[in-house]
Amino acid sequence: MAEEQLFLKSKVIVEPLVDRFFAWPHTIAPVQAALNLARLQVPLLESYLQSPQVHVAASNNPELRGGYFINIPESRVDEVRDLLDTIKRDRAGMLRFADAVMAGQEILRASATGFDLTPLYSKLPAELGGLVELAYDTDNQAQLRFMEPLVYKSDAYTEARQSVQLSFETGVERPFILSTPRLPSPDVLELAIPFRHPGLEELFKARVRPTTLSHLREALGLDDAQAARLSGMLSDRPSLSPDRHIESGGRIRYFGHACLVLQTPQAAIVTDPFISADSTAGDRYTLDDLPDYIDLVLITHGHQDHIVLETLLQLRGRVGTVVVPRSSRGNLCDPSMALMLSHQGFPVLEVDDFDEIPFPGGKVTATPFLGEHCDLDIRAKSTYWAELAGKNVFIGADSSGIDPALYRYIKGHLGTADYAFLGMECDGAPLTWLYQALLTIPIPKKMSDSRKLSGSNAEQAGAIMTELGAKEGYIYAMGEEAWLGHVMATTYNEDTYQIKQINEFLAWCSDRGIKAGHLFKQQEWRW
Ligand SMILES: [Fe+2]
Ligand SMILES: [Fe+2]
Repeated sequence: MAEEQLFLKSKVIVEPLVDRFFAWPHTIAPVQAALNLARLQVPLLESYLQSPQVHVAASNNPELRGGYFINIPESRVDEVRDLLDTIKRDRAGMLRFADAVMAGQEILRASATGFDLTPLYSKLPAELGGLVELAYDTDNQAQLRFMEPLVYKSDAYTEARQSVQLSFETGVERPFILSTPRLPSPDVLELAIPFRHPGLEELFKARVRPTTLSHLREALGLDDAQAARLSGMLSDRPSLSPDRHIESGGRIRYFGHACLVLQTPQAAIVTDPFISADSTAGDRYTLDDLPDYIDLVLITHGHQDHIVLETLLQLRGRVGTVVVPRSSRGNLCDPSMALMLSHQGFPVLEVDDFDEIPFPGGKVTATPFLGEHCDLDIRAKSTYWAELAGKNVFIGADSSGIDPALYRYIKGHLGTADYAFLGMECDGAPLTWLYQALLTIPIPKKMSDSRKLSGSNAEQAGAIMTELGAKEGYIYAMGEEAWLGHVMATTYNEDTYQIKQINEFLAWCSDRGIKAGHLFKQQEWRW
């Protein structure tokens, strides 16, 4: 008798972990991951072990939401101690690499005074040998430049750090990803496999195409107990939405935060995929609403709410190309998105401003992204311009209007936008919140607070609309949907500066007869 054909249940989620911390570019890309491990995660675990009750109390204090506190009950303190001991033992090479980066930068600070850098190579820590070039900028400031593809081949990168946890979306907010490691749990199927493991592709393809338990068992290398757990995640019926494809014209759907799905009958594009699996919530599009095949995934930048491995892994095997912005190659604060994703098994295309990416029946052009990175020299960021079914769509992500003249060049090159999607996180977190571990000299708090992860305010967003000649403008990427809480940790109310600015922008549009909206949960445009 033929084995039963089964689909993956719609509420299955995957949490990709690196040494039990949630995976995002700064925990995967090796130079940044080493610094985060040594300078953020290890000290955080040590702080928790000193006073777990302080961490738990702070985690539950709404005023400290998004802070670096570990939300694990004191009863599990021994497991956290084991995690720290394992990291110190098994990742000693990475921790030494992080120390070497700090020491190397210190050597440059002390000795790179504008003269020949050649004598400094022999003074660098051995861990950096063959992996860095020393270089001045034209202002005579010296930096380490990392040979990033080589660092992926060094002791600073090991897939042994990676694992995945499979479970069901419960609708209960998960702990904040940047601070709380995930421990084993009876509700979770834990697999000690790297993210690029082909079995994961087989598993998630089973959302759209049926397979058998024995096939998945073999693909993932499961034992009896694991196979039994997995069988509870499979169903004899697919859970796909009947209207996930269209037969004419064009459609855009807002899936929450920065995730848009742009469709024609011939093609589908998904921006910054971050998609709920909660198919019974009824107030949002979910993984069930995605088209079966996605021609292009467009990644705008490397922040943890825009390059979301927990969704991307679910799409691998159904995506033609993941388009990522080009980094500056080897700059400490600017890891390559292309290297990071290609090492996780994704088909990647790296683009620069005004590069064109054709797809069936249309074209995407990469467009510049300004600011929102605390004035760090980060170039792996892009907005996009999509032409499909006769409409021009500007996907602005968190790009800011600090210098709106930029958008005049976009219009000059590409025309006017029918739809502009703009982020307005205009009072973002300070520099040290996201980049602390990468800063090689201490930054005074006042300086950090002056350099925020901020997108456009009302005036800047209005200026972008004017410069683009946009006919309709929608504010998105604000992290307001409750199902993003474990990544966003935002708390807005109607008195919050950002919300007041959005309302000011909407009034500005209304005064000019421009159709506008503040997106929340779900919305659809059809033509
Ligand atoms: Fe951002
Ligand atoms: Fe964002």
